Amino acid sequence: MKKIKKLVVGNWKMNPKTVGEAKKLATGVKRSSRGLKKTHVVLCPPYVYLAPLSTVTSDTVLLGSQDAFYEPSGSHTGEVSFAQLDQFNVSFVIIGHSERRARGETDETVNKKVNAVVGEGMTAIVCVGEKVRDEHGEYLSHIRMQITTALRDVSKKLLDHVVIAYEPVWAIGGSRAMTGQDVHEMSIFIQKTLRDMFGVLSDGMRILYGGSVMPENAHDIVSNGHVHGLLVGRDSLRVESFVEIIRAVDSI
Ligand code: PGA
Repeated sequence: MKKIKKLVVGNWKMNPKTVGEAKKLATGVKRSSRGLKKTHVVLCPPYVYLAPLSTVTSDTVLLGSQDAFYEPSGSHTGEVSFAQLDQFNVSFVIIGHSERRARGETDETVNKKVNAVVGEGMTAIVCVGEKVRDEHGEYLSHIRMQITTALRDVSKKLLDHVVIAYEPVWAIGGSRAMTGQDVHEMSIFIQKTLRDMFGVLSDGMRILYGGSVMPENAHDIVSNGHVHGLLVGRDSLRVESFVEIIRAVDSI
């Protein structure tokens, strides 16, 4: 069986305030990430910090973007294309984060972006997750629909370039993450959805969990949740906490 690296992704959102702070944060993480054996770290700063941070990347610390537009060039004021990101060592792109979906991004747009990212040879981190958990299990059909729409027309041989990040919206930015055991149920469901869509899956396809991840719950979520890593918001902005999370994941 091919041994794939686990992933710890830091989604910095619209932080920090200055490029100096961004560099300090990235170099702090890089310094403490030397010697990781089983894990890759992906830092996802705002667009404006990608160029200054492009030299901070290493074998273990990689760069990701929080979004991009699917057209390669043209009259799209305010947008940035995946092809443009390529020149700054950007190898991962978060697509369909719930905070973007809340601003109007649809499953159809997510799908166009996923196809553009994998077509560019980068890896798409596709965010899916329910807003609320109803007792009849409708949230499961919602997640199935998000995944099947997002991955429509993606060729099976490019699935190693797709990472599914399961982020229940109710757990983001709060104090209540899911337990490892509950995450496991979801990772089984997501795998089944992917198998129904693509047949037998390659070992290279990864599933992450995100939503109130912190040093205290990182180990439980990854080891008992049977996921391939974590997507971290708030605690990715604190070097010490983020490094603790990374070490917890690398120890599994
Ligand atoms: P959080 O954010 O870790 O602050 O909950 C996760 C995310 O929004 O990706």
